[in-house]
Amino acid sequence: MTTRLIPTVTDTGSAGRRLTFNIFRFDPQENGDKPKMVSYSLDETPGMTIFIALNRLRDEQDSSLQFDFVCRAGICGSCAMVINGLPTLACRTLTTRYPKGEITLMPLPGFELIGDLSVNTGKFMRQLAERLQLWLHPREGEQSIHALEQAMDPDEAARLYELERCVECGVCVSACATKQMRDTFVGAVGLMKIARFELDSRDGRSVEDFYHVIGNQDGVFGCMTLLGCQDNCPKDLPHMQQIAYLRRKMAMTLL
Ligand code: SF4
Ligand code: FES
Repeated sequence: MTTRLIPTVTDTGSAGRRLTFNIFRFDPQENGDKPKMVSYSLDETPGMTIFIALNRLRDEQDSSLQFDFVCRAGICGSCAMVINGLPTLACRTLTTRYPKGEITLMPLPGFELIGDLSVNTGKFMRQLAERLQLWLHPREGEQSIHALEQAMDPDEAARLYELERCVECGVCVSACATKQMRDTFVGAVGLMKIARFELDSRDGRSVEDFYHVIGNQDGVFGCMTLLGCQDNCPKDLPHMQQIAYLRRKMAMTLL
């Protein structure tokens, strides 16, 4: 298992600074609205995250500000946005990371914009799941709901758990130049999920079956190894290792 690189949010941080937030504002539902950047000022408090700052701005200055969150703990993946040029989770990002006190917030590119900083990652993930059939396909004869639960090999369970840590935040999609240039490319999150099912001994699909889904330029051979996914994934998942593994497997089906 790899070491988590998400910054701690227990830092006390500095107090007394005045922060400037430049925030993308646009409501596609509102007739005549145009995309614009709006500036807000806020006093920094100890331990302040971007998520805390956004809530204060919405509570105290502008109730129309749209952004998403659920867990505030890096688990639900809802609060991903582009912070000073890099896609990441707002609830795990301290304002003290920005010494100049200037913070620019943009919505994740590559997803349908709901409004301001809110994008529809759920729709994207659902379409991806349908396209790649991202669910367990039991082997023939192993589909009975009356069958007894089988213990899993602990090593296999640990390897599966490593890939199950994806929170579907969409950061790897936004950070991938290949995906931004070619919308049909499945992106790292899709390939990671295929790797997860390929690894699962309960899944009856063969390597050839997976080849038919991702053995092309929109799949595992389309990745240009630009590393945006792995460099920015808030869960520090091993995208490159898994993509290389899938490529080897897919290439072997051609021999
Ligand atoms: S692989 Fe990482 S960056 Fe991509 S959706 Fe999952 S958690 Fe987010
Ligand atoms: S609010 Fe859930 S990951 Fe940030």
